[in-house]
Amino acid sequence: MAAFSSLARVAGEIRRDVEAARQRDPSALGVGRFEMLAGWPGIQALLAHRVAHALHRSGVPALPRAIAYAARALTGIEIHHAARIGEGLFIDHGSGVVIGETAVIGDGVTLYQGVTLGGTGFETGKRHPTVQDNVTIGSGAKLLGPIEIGHGAKIGANSVVVRDVPPNSTVVGVPGHPVRIDGRRVEGPDTDWIHLPDPVADAMRVLSARVAELERMVTEMGGTPPASAPENVHHLHPVQGRNPAGG
Ligand SMILES: CC(C)(COP(=O)(O)OP(=O)(O)OC[C@H]1O[C@@H](n2cnc3c(N)ncnc32)[C@H](O)[C@@H]1OP(=O)(O)O)[C@@H](O)C(=O)NCCC(=O)NCCS
Repeated sequence: MAAFSSLARVAGEIRRDVEAARQRDPSALGVGRFEMLAGWPGIQALLAHRVAHALHRSGVPALPRAIAYAARALTGIEIHHAARIGEGLFIDHGSGVVIGETAVIGDGVTLYQGVTLGGTGFETGKRHPTVQDNVTIGSGAKLLGPIEIGHGAKIGANSVVVRDVPPNSTVVGVPGHPVRIDGRRVEGPDTDWIHLPDPVADAMRVLSARVAELERMVTEMGGTPPASAPENVHHLHPVQGRNPAGG
């Protein structure tokens, strides 16, 4: 009886995973459920995880790890069999995703390829992130340690997050910092973590201005005017406007 209810629960979880992919993946438009099961690595990895996790909870030895290992070999997605994952997780593309042993993921979460929910070193106990409901984590983002990612948060691609993230916020950068909370830009001193200064470009800009000034002085003193700047010398301007990484 317990085995039957476990089986029914796993089947329900898999059905909701497929539905999540159908709703959130634009390329799934018009694709049938079986084709998605056969062709979406994120769904295959979750299917394997749902089975492995149920076996792990029932105390079956070795087999859950073997299933997780085989799923990783097949999909490139590594989910520890003990990780707790809520309903409707969507792993887009998936390759390179790593979900650690003590990670906890809520409902309706979206992960892109290359996301790591990892530990920071050799700690024991709870050492991986807890991701609340409806969080989106961009490709290549690394979330490290037993941090809490508040519900509805968005983590920008390639961010490295090592601190708790407030609910309904957008966090970007290395290390990750909130740039939006409840849709509003984060104000205050020292809050622009996107348009960071570029000291090398600044130094070159100053040097180039000094060379131009010296050339002008030499010309005024009767020296030969310098040849015009070669074509491959570009003027440096501070970066302005919207970051091209924007969602
Ligand atoms: C973070 C993200 C979800 C957008 O969230 P959002 O709440 O809509 O935020 P916005 O687009 O308004 O961006 C907020 C600011 O962060 C910047 N930003 C967005 N993503 C960023 C990133 N990954 N790295 C650095 N800065 C980023 C934006 O340029 C914007 O800057 P501004 O304040 O100067 O305007 C999106 O940019 C992102 O990274 N998505 C992941 C997509 C992905 O991985 N796709 C892979 C498909 S295969």
